[in-house]
Amino acid sequence: MDLQLALPAAAPALWLDGVSRRFAGRGGIVMALDRISLRVPQGGFFGLLGPNGAGKTTLLRLACGLLRPTAGRIEVLGDDPVRRPEAVRRALGAVLGGERALYWRLTGRENLLYAAALYDLPPAPAAARAAELLRFVDLTERADDLVEGYSTGMRQRLALARALVHDPTLLILDEPTAGLDPHAQAAMRGLLDALAREGGRTIVMATHNLLEADRLCDAVAIVDRGRLVANGPPRDLKAAVARPGGPEPTLEDVFLALTGRSLAAADRSGAPA
Ligand SMILES: Nc1ncnc2c1ncn2[C@@H]1O[C@H](COP(=O)(O)OP(=O)(O)OP(=O)(O)O)[C@@H](O)[C@H]1O
Ligand SMILES: [Mg+2]
Repeated sequence: MDLQLALPAAAPALWLDGVSRRFAGRGGIVMALDRISLRVPQGGFFGLLGPNGAGKTTLLRLACGLLRPTAGRIEVLGDDPVRRPEAVRRALGAVLGGERALYWRLTGRENLLYAAALYDLPPAPAAARAAELLRFVDLTERADDLVEGYSTGMRQRLALARALVHDPTLLILDEPTAGLDPHAQAAMRGLLDALAREGGRTIVMATHNLLEADRLCDAVAIVDRGRLVANGPPRDLKAAVARPGGPEPTLEDVFLALTGRSLAAADRSGAPA
């Protein structure tokens, strides 16, 4: 018998089948996600793109088990994040609220040791892991300073290190470069690129920055007003809107072609009705 056939196929990192999520807002019902079906295979860097209010954060919160879908099914590495939260918690590292996930009255190192304790790492491996991650995010020199004295970029790098403490199979990042100056953005992109090149792990990142997604991501999903409007490698999405003899398209052109709006205009118009 073929050994390949005897092995179970790897579960997708993220699998959504007809997932919807409604919210009761002040102005009535908001359809934050509207019947999204999506399969993100394991390994590689996946981008979730779309303007303000598109539903990116809602999708990531569903994946983390912080919200339930109103309809449809979601699985993370083959497990239901609501029904099997412990399995998902161990497999997944997330930076959702950015720097808000950190304790500002603790040092950078203490934040990582605290996170390691939550994942039951014994003290010696936890200390080694913290030191390794502090080196990775270039915070060794400031490791024993309180986080309240850190810059936004330093806090964002520490939040990334915190999410990596238990060496998760799936890393979920909500706009990891938002609010950073160009230098700090470049530093963060360098770290994400290094993580992706390590291989083995799946990274799912929501971003507004289409250039960033194009540079880093193997595949992207574009969401707009809760709907999935495109899904595939950036190269393929761009090729689909290219005109013979025309300039090389960007992901901005893809968004414009699919939604009839520029991303900036979509951001200005804000949340879905
Ligand atoms: N807890 C909530 N209660 C009510 N409405 C919500 C809630 N969370 C999200 N929404 C609404 O759902 C829609 C999608 O929001 P979401 O935060 O997922 O978008 P996003 O793509 O992450 O946007 P941004 O780029 O601004 O972060 C928006 O209309 C938002 O106002
Ligand atoms: Mg968001």
